Formats: sequence, C-alpha cells, structure tokens
Amino acid sequence: ILSNADLERQVDTTDEWIVSRTGIRERRIVAPGQATSDLAILAATNVLEAAQRGADEIDVLIVPTCTPDHLFPSVSAITANAIGAHAAAAFDIQAVCSGFIYGLAQALALVESGLAQNVLVVGAEVFSRVTNPHDRGTCILFGDAAAGALVVRDEDGGPSGFLGFELGADGSRGDQLIVPVGGTRHPASEPFDPDDAYVQMNGREVFRFATRVIEDSVLRLLDRLGMTIDDVDLLVPHQANQRIIDHAIGRLGIDATRVFNNLEHYGNTSAASIPLAMAEARDAGALRPGMRVMMVGFGAGLTWAACFVRYEPE
Ligand code: UT7
Repeated sequence: ILSNADLERQVDTTDEWIVSRTGIRERRIVAPGQATSDLAILAATNVLEAAQRGADEIDVLIVPTCTPDHLFPSVSAITANAIGAHAAAAFDIQAVCSGFIYGLAQALALVESGLAQNVLVVGAEVFSRVTNPHDRGTCILFGDAAAGALVVRDEDGGPSGFLGFELGADGSRGDQLIVPVGGTRHPASEPFDPDDAYVQMNGREVFRFATRVIEDSVLRLLDRLGMTIDDVDLLVPHQANQRIIDHAIGRLGIDATRVFNNLEHYGNTSAASIPLAMAEARDAGALRPGMRVMMVGFGAGLTWAACFVRYEPE
C-alpha cells in the first residue's frame, strides 16, 4: 500500500492537496518482480471461483491492458496458460482506461454471434511501472490492480443482460496522455530521455475531457434506449478522480447515493478500475441482482466507453 504520507516523502506534495484535488488516500502497488499477468492470473482465478466454472470452460480470454508484461506475448496468452485455460483463444485490448468496457463489448459480440459460450474479461494494469515516481502530477494518481467478469451465453437463448454500449475514440488528442517511449515510434533500443518512458499527461485537459465525455456518453446511450438518468439504479464510473466524478454526476443530475466509488483506496487503476468497483459494489450490497447499472470510462487515446447492463449473476 502506497499512502499519501509515503508520497509526501517522495515528492513535493501533501495529503491535504491529494485528498482535496483527487479524493485518493492510498493505492496498491505490485511487489518487486511482479508484472501485470501476475495480477491477471489472480483475478481470473477469483472470477472462475465466484462463477463456479473451470478454466477449461473458457472459450476466449480477453485482457484489457495498456501496461502489458511485454510488447508480446500478450498478457492474455500468459494468463490463459497459467490458469489452465488451454482451449481458450486469448488477446489483449488496448483502449487504456476504457479497456474493460471495450472488452465487454467484444465478449458480447463473441457470445451473441455464437463464436463463444464463455468469455472471461480481466482488466489488469501495473501503472506503477510507467509512472514517474518524481512527477507529482501523475505519481499520486495511479495504482495497480486486476479485476474481471465472466460473460456467459444464456442456455435458454433469453435476452442479453447488456442493454447497450457507447464507445468512441478521438485520436487527434492522443498526445494529451501518452507514454512516448517503448513502442515503434521511439523504441527503447535507441537513446531516450528517461522521463519519456513514463506517463506524460496534460491533467487539466484530460480533466475537462473526462467530465464532458462522461455526461455526453451516458446521455447519448440512454437517449438511444429511450431512457433517462432515472432509469439508472447504479452508476459505476471509472475511478480516476473524485472531482471528475462529482462534476460529471452533478451535470447528469444523478444522486450521489446511486454512484459507487472506491478510488480512495486504489487510485486510478485504468482498465481494472471499473470491474474492481463493480466487485466491491457487489460485496458491499450496493450492486444487487436485477439492478440496471451504467458503467462509464474514459482515458488515453483519447477514448471513452459506456455500457448499460441489467446485472444478472448466474
Ligand atoms: O484515466 C484518465 C487519467 N487521467 C486523469 O484522470 C487526470 C485528470 N486530471 C486531474 O485529475 C487533475 O488535473 C490533477 C489531479 C492531475 C491535477 O489537479 P488540478 O487541480 O488540475 O491541478 P493543476 O494541474 O491545475 O495544478 C495546480 C497546481 C500547480 O501549481 P502552480 O502551477 O499553480 O503553482 C501544480 O504544480 O498544483 C500543483 N500540483 C501539485 N501540488 C501539490 C500538481 N500536482 C501536485 C501535487 N501536490 N501532487
């Protein structure tokens, strides 16, 4: 656990500043030597246990992540092998903090097309390895985590619990949130400024984008379904910053009692943040069978994603 007090010793910041500007008090950080697949393996195992399914029943394993162990092989292939999902196809999704919802859309498409019966989606990130420990604008925000869900084909051919998606990307603003080095544009095999191997972010610009896109994507999706914000029993937003969430829910006109947050303990865990919040909402009794739940995320790309579901655990 990396607390705000720990960060006060690391950079020029204060607990008061971090809490008042972000709502974050602590984050989870991997142990030395651990990588993203180590978290994904734990989360995948937990999902299968909760769903009482065997790894051999998984047809496809999708890992939304932007902090993979390596450029390749994929985290999903490593994870599938480790958990014994030997019959599974496996691929990663790179949509950064929107990745989990993009992954759910893929899972639904695979299941509805008949290509798969059971699709495991595990958002997994180790942002601590790509965050500059000396940059106070970013190192206070991010944490490491993995969490997931199993999307299952209804044996009776009943209606899907998925009510709708709203996915998007605006690549023209990609430079607002970027890790410049490590890909093919600036390979790590060539000399580089060490700061460029870390997240570079225009915080104010991303903040503005986030508040607007949460409102816009949720309202667009509800409008398409002929519904309003009153039809949302629970809103589970990407856990990036409490102020972003407060601004967005103020604009949406949804009461804070119908919004689940847990970023205080984890910070921004990117593709893991929404499933982690969903799991904790379930455990806290805030997410109950039959509820209509709006998940909404945004992130680098810039990307955004909203998904409205009727929560129907098996
Ligand atoms: O998944 C998407 C990921 N990204 C995000 O969600 C980020 C969205 N943006 C944010 O969350 C906010 O922009 C931040 C939390 C990153 C920054 O908060 P802000 O209220 O936008 O602060 P700012 O960048 O406008 O900076 C205000 C001041 C600056 O000082 P000066 O120039 O006014 O003297 C910063 O240098 O606060 C300073 N500052 C800090 N001070 C203490 C920036 N970071 C810190 C810090 N501690 N950790």
